Amino acid sequence: AKISVIGAGNVGATTVQRLAELELGEIVMTDIVEGLPQGKALDLMQAGAIKGYDTSIIGTNDYAEIVDSDLVIITAGIARKPGMTREDLIKTNSKIIAEVSRNIAKYAPDSVVINVTNPLDIITYIAMKSTGFETKKVFGMSGVLDSGRFASFIAEELKCSKKDVQAMVIGGHGDLMVPLPQYTTVSGVPLTDLLPEDRIAKLVERTVNGGAEIVELLKQGSAFYAPSAAIVSMAEAVIKNSRRILPASSYLEGQYGQEGIYFGVPVKLGASGVEEILELKLEESQYEILRKSSETIRNTISQLEV
Ligand code: NAI
Repeated sequence: AKISVIGAGNVGATTVQRLAELELGEIVMTDIVEGLPQGKALDLMQAGAIKGYDTSIIGTNDYAEIVDSDLVIITAGIARKPGMTREDLIKTNSKIIAEVSRNIAKYAPDSVVINVTNPLDIITYIAMKSTGFETKKVFGMSGVLDSGRFASFIAEELKCSKKDVQAMVIGGHGDLMVPLPQYTTVSGVPLTDLLPEDRIAKLVERTVNGGAEIVELLKQGSAFYAPSAAIVSMAEAVIKNSRRILPASSYLEGQYGQEGIYFGVPVKLGASGVEEILELKLEESQYEILRKSSETIRNTISQLEV
């Protein structure tokens, strides 16, 4: 398989590292900055001799190199600084992604596209519109990361292994994300049987602010180790056609009462992208957050010129 990663910054380069170590296929990494993808690709190729992988990694500023990719992962754009919301990134990133998408359509018309650039749900919509691809072939990474953060906080609270926690977070990738304790389990035991409501509520709150907590600590840039791990689990499901059930920002056509927008929902991921959207029954308060979130997303989309 051929995988291209657009953007060789923190998220892009770390994603390439993780993909290379898995030997999932040949990799192309592009960026607008001259020398950056080339230098990082060379470094990652040399790491293969030490870590023991033979993955081919090409770093380039030329979109023609992504030709015939099976999967394209978009990580180009600017990230948050302290005090910024993901929405503050929209002006710059929407222009970047429109251009990136046109090149994907030109050189890799049969690819599946995973968008990572924020604001996630909006930029994923732009990527779908500007590639002109079928909606199921373009989706965004958000819920796998948010669920990973929720799972990590749960394991810490229960003093148990993270490996046993299966968490589910859906909705918009922002302050209106919806962690779902009722669909979160620890080795099959419902979280709601393991912790009282008030302690779950604290973990939910920390999950919603999980990205901002890291942005504040770093003072520059935002998270990329957990995000790249989340991207790679989705990429692996596509490349191996494993039909994993994972949350992804997906184009909704009536599911969860929403139409014509992207937000996070559990899906079945395979070689053709989003093969199926799973509709879970939620609590009224959770539907309420989803409605608010979709309203914000819809308003932003209606102001876009794409
Ligand atoms: P970064 O600043 O380290 O890297 C971004 C890279 O994009 C830079 O190397 C830059 O030169 C490149 N770039 C800018 N314009 C470009 C263009 N026109 N064509 C090609 N490359 C271009 O940022 P980082 O930390 O890698 O984050 C990337 C994006 O991912 C941000 O928008 C960030 O908010 C988002 N993100 C999303 C997450 C999610 O859960 N969906 C999690 C973490 C980050």
